[in-house]
Amino acid sequence: MLVSGAGTNLQALLDASADPSYGVDVVAVGADREAVEGLARAERAGIPTFVRKVRDHPSRDEWDRELTAAVRKHDPDLVVLAGFMKLTGPAFLAEFGGRCVNTHPALSPAFPGMSGPADALAYGVKVTGATLFVVDEGVDTGPIVEQTVVRVEDDDDVASLHERIKVAERAMLVECVGRMAREGFTITDRKVRFGQ
Ligand code: GRF
Repeated sequence: MLVSGAGTNLQALLDASADPSYGVDVVAVGADREAVEGLARAERAGIPTFVRKVRDHPSRDEWDRELTAAVRKHDPDLVVLAGFMKLTGPAFLAEFGGRCVNTHPALSPAFPGMSGPADALAYGVKVTGATLFVVDEGVDTGPIVEQTVVRVEDDDDVASLHERIKVAERAMLVECVGRMAREGFTITDRKVRFGQ
């Protein structure tokens, strides 16, 4: 898994994977910055961690290659980006494309990018939510695995809305990553389906 921040999505997967019947082993957690709570959560669970910061590399492409190599060492079947705030590059996609998922706190294709909850609130939509998708070269544009809907309340601010989205987002992530691991999945004409 790759994280950049609090790692509550990571924690939800760690908690679920404590039950062997869930069928998921988190083999490593990487980050693009040091000292984030997501890394601390992994360390407390005894899971190997690594950090690859963009600014430690001469170019974005070099960082992308280094990140790819760091992930490759752990030989994952599926890479989960959970609050990972960097766009992965061509080397990463060449290796993990089609088996890397990300969550976005909005209902794609609405409100892509870094401020999904704020953009939904500013637009005045009555429902928003979260999207789990297979990563491609775009920003939150990949084939959709699942979406979950959250109502916008009259008294919401960005923090309260994002917090409610995150509750639904974590449940969706746990449910879908478990199914992807146990059942497999296919992608045909952008349609993601569970099963072989
Ligand atoms: C999630 O809402 C994710 O979709 C967004 O940032 C949040 C990360 O939360 N990009 P956490 O680090 O898993 O708690």
